[in-house]
Amino acid sequence: MGLTFFVQTYGCQMNKHDSERVVGMLENLGAVSVESMEEADIVVFMTCCVREAADIRLLGQASSIKNMRLRSGSPLDKRMIAIGGCIGQRDGEKLFDELPHLDVVFGTNNLSSLPGLLEDVLENGRHRIETVEESTLFPNDLPTVREHAWAAWLPIAIGCNNFCTYCIVPYVRGREKSRSFDDIVAEARRYVESGVKEITLLGQNVNSYGRDLYGKPRFGDVIEAVAQTGVERLRFATSHPKDLTDEVIAKFATVDCLMPALHLPAQSGSNRILKEMHRVYTIEHYRALIDKLRDARPGISLSTDIIVGFPGETEDDFEQTYKLIEEVGYSQVFTFIYSKREGTPAAKLVDDTPRVVIQERFDRLRTVVERGAYEYNQLSLGKTVPVLFEGSSKKQSGIATGRSPENITVHAPLPEGMRIDDLIGTTRNVTVDRARTWYLSGTIAGA
Ligand code: SAH
Ligand code: SF4
Ligand code: F3S
Repeated sequence: MGLTFFVQTYGCQMNKHDSERVVGMLENLGAVSVESMEEADIVVFMTCCVREAADIRLLGQASSIKNMRLRSGSPLDKRMIAIGGCIGQRDGEKLFDELPHLDVVFGTNNLSSLPGLLEDVLENGRHRIETVEESTLFPNDLPTVREHAWAAWLPIAIGCNNFCTYCIVPYVRGREKSRSFDDIVAEARRYVESGVKEITLLGQNVNSYGRDLYGKPRFGDVIEAVAQTGVERLRFATSHPKDLTDEVIAKFATVDCLMPALHLPAQSGSNRILKEMHRVYTIEHYRALIDKLRDARPGISLSTDIIVGFPGETEDDFEQTYKLIEEVGYSQVFTFIYSKREGTPAAKLVDDTPRVVIQERFDRLRTVVERGAYEYNQLSLGKTVPVLFEGSSKKQSGIATGRSPENITVHAPLPEGMRIDDLIGTTRNVTVDRARTWYLSGTIAGA
């Protein structure tokens, strides 16, 4: 039909992965992907509402697009705009009040409806909205166009049953639902056969995989089976500390392709706050997990999420979080200022800590986070690490960029006579001669 499209994605890997499905479906319709909104006849926003900032950003972008001229030669007389993802799911019809120029709203559970909704608008010229409470189709049954040929995200479960008191995700992604074991393994096998080097198993809480499938198979079985496809690198996200089992920890010792990196969100170092957050573990339990992980795979790279300024957080609570970060030695910490989400239990709590106090805590925490990352990276100095190359450095031409097994960014000059395209998707040994806070750099062996 000669249409062009652009998908703008916010939020987590699950949303990014859903966007790959959206691209696949639109290409199936015959539309052509373009690099910018300006060139696109159809713009799809895949939205996130985990924090307020994401909401505001969407509203800004989705309103300003109204004034953007349609490309010359477009078969349409008006650009089509669709909103999907978590805000689509949460707000549904209400979005048309704020953004009357919208054409389509869809949710997280009905990605597959998008082509039909768009076609209806094209044919009948009316606005369409569709969100559903429960998904009937696992998104994996939809066509996909992956962002990278050599890496794949593989959802093993959707939704979340944990209801951490601050979090909107269970309301916009629905109840946890595990995908069939055989489907997961078959998709992993297809990926490996088509040249994928790295698979990341995805779920809001991968460790509870299988609980809705009569308790068997469990997540450890998924790791084993996907490892047996011969994939070079295997990762997974996200792990809830209350569900990370000894069986899964042991895989870090026995499964070679399982990369030595784990994201284990702590959220807070204070037991009182953890309880208020309904995280269902104590910080002692969390730290015992870290010890076990380090026993299983010495040098494992650990990362975490922290929320600063949860309602009622005292200086003492914060000090305990600070101490956790200082003592664990994370390679990366994602820090967030608490953002009130309407409809969550925490939204009802008294939240009277002054913003400046929270900002000051946040800044203090960033300092220790950066120190920890810098110190972690120093351990790689002088070592030779296998790097899976992803592309060129954004900042410097002639520099190739990839990731170490620990998931640290590594830069290296492109060897003489080598084209970047020949390097992308391959793993090369890099001898590290520089270790900064957020990256390593060195030279490719034999270059
Ligand atoms: N299922 C994953 C990801 C959840 S969202 C998990 O459990 O880890 C990613 C991170 O966003 C969370 O780990 C949390 O640190 C942060 N987050 C979620 N809700 C938030 C809120 N209301 N305010 C600030 N940060 C929040
Ligand atoms: Fe949100 Fe908690 Fe579920 Fe993660 S585990 S998605 S933080 S409710
Ligand atoms: Fe955001 Fe939805 Fe992911 S709210 S973090 S895009 S599940």
